[in-house]
Amino acid sequence: MAIILDGKALAKSIVKEVKTQVNAMAEPPGLAVVIVGDNPASRVYVNNKKKDCQACGIVSTEYALPEDVGESKLLALIDELNQSKDVHGILVQLPLPEGYDVQKIIQAISPLKDVDAFHMLNVGRIFNGDYSFLPCTPAGVIELLDYYNIDPKGKHCVVVGHSNIVGKPMAMMLLHRHATVTVCHIHTADLGFHTRQADILVCAVGKIGLITGDMVKPGAVVVDVGINRRDDGSMCGDVDFEAVSQVASHITPVPGGVGPMTRAMLMRNTVMAAN
Ligand code: GUN
Repeated sequence: MAIILDGKALAKSIVKEVKTQVNAMAEPPGLAVVIVGDNPASRVYVNNKKKDCQACGIVSTEYALPEDVGESKLLALIDELNQSKDVHGILVQLPLPEGYDVQKIIQAISPLKDVDAFHMLNVGRIFNGDYSFLPCTPAGVIELLDYYNIDPKGKHCVVVGHSNIVGKPMAMMLLHRHATVTVCHIHTADLGFHTRQADILVCAVGKIGLITGDMVKPGAVVVDVGINRRDDGSMCGDVDFEAVSQVASHITPVPGGVGPMTRAMLMRNTVMAAN
């Protein structure tokens, strides 16, 4: 049975650290959370982020806008938040409803307040390896690996999923740690051939049961970034946990693995933005 990478416990200790840092600050950091429309998953994520802020002493302000608010009003709000001295971090919850130009919205956020690290300046800095903000999910994965003394250096890391939010920055950050990196995605032929090569397998797709026991090399470290809901409402990742935990050396659970780490990294980024 694999060792469980307990993101929930580690995130808790990071949140505690962040709280201590916030307590030592003259003014609490401010995080503006913008949500457009009523995507139920986004609502849950935003509520969780607000709870985390409260736990850390960060002042979160929610801007819940109707689905049809339109790009120009959304851009005007971002402009106002960019200028506000009380707002240190700005987060626009994704996905935006259909019809919005996501890149136009994200690029309007000041790179200095871009706690998601989605702005092209921050993305480019990650590429160069001289980053300040790191995107929360891949940063959380690296933090979790570090905590359990799992060093990617010289290892074959296989990332499944090539999104801008997780897969691409994850691959880049593993490269910075001197891993050999393979990125797989929806068009990859024979996914199992690649995943079976992985010493460290990171899966960020959003498909229940994508990674089965026979797709994992014995002794591999398996990080499941997927957040899915089964028909009965329960949560699971992309990895068949029952089967893969019999093969892997280490595995993240869902829930309680990467999710809480992502949230903890957002708190860290917000404090960084305020300093
Ligand atoms: N939607 C899914 N993940 C994220 C995230 O990390 N940040 C934002 N803003 N939206 C998301």
